[in-house]
Amino acid sequence: MSVPNLLLVDDDPFALELQVHLAQQAIPDCSIQTTDDPAEVEGMCATSAFDCVLLDYDMPALDGLTLAGRLRTDHPYLPVILCTGAGDELLATKALQGGLTDYIPKSAISAPALRRTVLHAIESASNARVIDAQRRELEGFAFALAHDFKQPLRQITTFANLAIQNFENDQKEDARRHLAFLSSSARRLSALVDMMSQYTLLNKPIEPELIRVGSVADGVQESLSTYISDLNGVVDVSGDAFIQGSGVFLHQILQNLVVNGFKYNGSSQPRIKIDISSKGDVCSIKVRDNGIGIGQEYLEQVFKPLARLHTSAEYSGTGLGLTMARKAAAAQGGTITCRSELGIGSEFVVRLPLAINVEARAA
Ligand SMILES: Nc1ncnc2c1ncn2[C@@H]1O[C@H](COP(=O)(O)OP(=O)(O)OP(=O)(O)O)[C@@H](O)[C@H]1O
Ligand SMILES: [Mg+2]
Repeated sequence: MSVPNLLLVDDDPFALELQVHLAQQAIPDCSIQTTDDPAEVEGMCATSAFDCVLLDYDMPALDGLTLAGRLRTDHPYLPVILCTGAGDELLATKALQGGLTDYIPKSAISAPALRRTVLHAIESASNARVIDAQRRELEGFAFALAHDFKQPLRQITTFANLAIQNFENDQKEDARRHLAFLSSSARRLSALVDMMSQYTLLNKPIEPELIRVGSVADGVQESLSTYISDLNGVVDVSGDAFIQGSGVFLHQILQNLVVNGFKYNGSSQPRIKIDISSKGDVCSIKVRDNGIGIGQEYLEQVFKPLARLHTSAEYSGTGLGLTMARKAAAAQGGTITCRSELGIGSEFVVRLPLAINVEARAA
């Protein structure tokens, strides 16, 4: 966790001074802002990114509970801890049910207690933020998925009924055609289910390890070698770097990008160039193709779950490859962006945290 930025609020200047002293002892490298005027707190929170606010409960000008409620509305993930006086605990306990992060009785304030309460509050708020983001993402994903699942299911039902009719009317050739459609819809459904289970796996936290990007790129080429040679394709890899991430996730990202580069490509010799470089503490992996390109207005949309710019008849696919690639990059603290020109080709840039001091560790 980075150095916490705390806001301490108490209308009693002596109590405030004591809290500053204890907070410095509790979390020695924390940065602290204070105010003895509760009316200033909302303005301060609007202009500074605090990690935790400690509010005195008993402030006649604006009581701590009311202020905590307002902060909750404007900054739902900002942990607010109420410092209560004797006899306020019952109220504070009730306030916890209303969304207050925690409370600490003034009589029990000590450096260790403050440290425990503040760090726990910050961690809980950060977990809540992650869980809410995942929930929102899953809701959007489930909605899109329900729509995409329905289509092959409908087709399976339709083609099965047609095939039954064909058999009844002794139309063997039509029956064969409809069964082939049925089989292809079932395959699409199966691909969707596979992608969906891979997608949910990406929610698991990773243990970052030292990865040589060039060896992952070579591994991707090797696993796609038949596919690439069938297309008369070429993959050039240049540069190299070590990242701190997951080899499995990086393989998944590069494989998706390479397959897309070959799939959405009308050239007689589809060509992919993977360029690996590093600058500062970032490793950039550029995957460039000489394919059909993507319209400027779709450069972000292609990363959305199940978004496809083509029909399944034109190009097969589930529309999850880039969504998963972006998620796999984010799980490693990275990003993926795209630039493209229609008819010329596309370039996807994956940025991941560079491993530092590799030589020192290898020695
Ligand atoms: N390199 C590319 N060149 C042109 N269009 C692309 C490229 N990569 C992706 N696209 C477009 O973006 C859409 C989304 O890509 P994505 O990889 O997420 O799904 P997909 O390839 O359709 O299916 P799959 O889930 O099997 O990968 C594709 O359907 C295609 O229209
Ligand atoms: Mg794809």
